[in-house]
Amino acid sequence: MSEIIVKGTKKLEGVLPVQGSKNSSLPILAACVLVDGVSVLHNCPFLSDVDAAVRILEHLGCVVTRDGHTLTVDSRSISCCNIPENLMREMRSSIVFLGSLVSRCKKARLFTPGGCEIGLRPIDLHLSALRSLGVSIEDEGSALGFEVREKLEGTVISLSFPSVGATENIMLASVFAEGRTTVLNAAREPEILDLAAFLNKCGCKIFVGSQGTIVIDGVKKAHSCEHTIIPDRIVALTYMSAVACCGGDVLFQKADTSHFLSVTGVFEAAGCRLETKKDSVRIVSSGKLKAVRDIRTLPYPGFPTDAQAPISAMLCTAEGTSVIVENIFESRFNHVGELVRMGARIKVEGRVAIIDGVKALHGAHVRAVDLRGGSALVVAALGARGKTVISGLKHIDRGYERIEECLQSLGAQIERSAESG
Ligand code: EPZ
Repeated sequence: MSEIIVKGTKKLEGVLPVQGSKNSSLPILAACVLVDGVSVLHNCPFLSDVDAAVRILEHLGCVVTRDGHTLTVDSRSISCCNIPENLMREMRSSIVFLGSLVSRCKKARLFTPGGCEIGLRPIDLHLSALRSLGVSIEDEGSALGFEVREKLEGTVISLSFPSVGATENIMLASVFAEGRTTVLNAAREPEILDLAAFLNKCGCKIFVGSQGTIVIDGVKKAHSCEHTIIPDRIVALTYMSAVACCGGDVLFQKADTSHFLSVTGVFEAAGCRLETKKDSVRIVSSGKLKAVRDIRTLPYPGFPTDAQAPISAMLCTAEGTSVIVENIFESRFNHVGELVRMGARIKVEGRVAIIDGVKALHGAHVRAVDLRGGSALVVAALGARGKTVISGLKHIDRGYERIEECLQSLGAQIERSAESG
């Protein structure tokens, strides 16, 4: 298995364009299933999760071609409406194909995507929403059968939690429903807006209100379109965390800084200087940070749960005690044990991590067990004294395009070993 080797404490300097968003690419690729035409998607990152979504599209009968960061999806002929377990298990968010299949084929058969390292990841909100749209659901053990009884009919759906995936599935399952569907307490993440933008370019009628209300008016069909995926706000925040704790001066381009206003204040409180424009952010840090108390992850526009791990890595060497509360997922501190092996002083009590800053971390052999926890180990290794060897790269490659090349371009001493044995 290949590993990433990092020799720490190099200042990071230079310019880096931010990759396209994984969490926007995946639901938009799923949305292609309901398009009776050809969808051209620009700024699609090279990620293993995107590859997994393409395999599902091809299994369903789509023809997908890639030209650099542009993916073209011809979904004029969908030949099947089930997703086998091996493809479902490759990627947690495969559940978001459900809404599209129900809209296009009026039926679907999927396997529950199952939990992952950060929590149980139930889909109860998805299922109850689809039932209220007129979908009958057969529980066949680990598989679920979905069938539109008579027709998909618009309705009012009030979500008990602003679930991103459930909001996406409701949008995808209601675009061809008869009448209006109103979603209350919907997720408001930028990726939701990007999905709505894509669907509206395909001729759908979706209105996203400001207070978590989304209105979908059913149309007859969706046609070909061209769309550019938004930048990945979590990748931007991850690399900013690395600059903050290593020290340096980096300009991140092709960003959308309006997507991470809830985090810029954390970098400034830690002692970084930010120069923010609409599509770029420059971060300057001495590498000597101050602790930040009371970081609480919340649904958008609150502090994003996906940035919690890299930010906690950045704060391991901040002066003072930082406190992070993880309110979204029940076990999203898996990276803490590995950070402690690098010399961090972190205590976890349930959903609260208490980080007592230390002078410096030291290199170690560490293992990534989930995507963002893996990125946290890279952030910590870049700022640590000595050599760190990181394994479990399959988790990191799900969401970070060529992570070592990006960081090398900023002066980091980081490389990926060849696949061993
Ligand atoms: C999306 O996951 C993202 N994934 C996650 O990013 C992100 O952390 C999460 O939203 C929250 O922002 C993609 O977009 C592919 P949720 P999703 O449904 O849709 C509970 C990453 O690192 N819940 O908003 O699965 C759930 O257990 C990934 O890129 C139910 O209880 O998140 C969790 O506690 C990780 N029942 C909370 O809601 C349901 O039916 C948030 O889940 C659905 C969710």
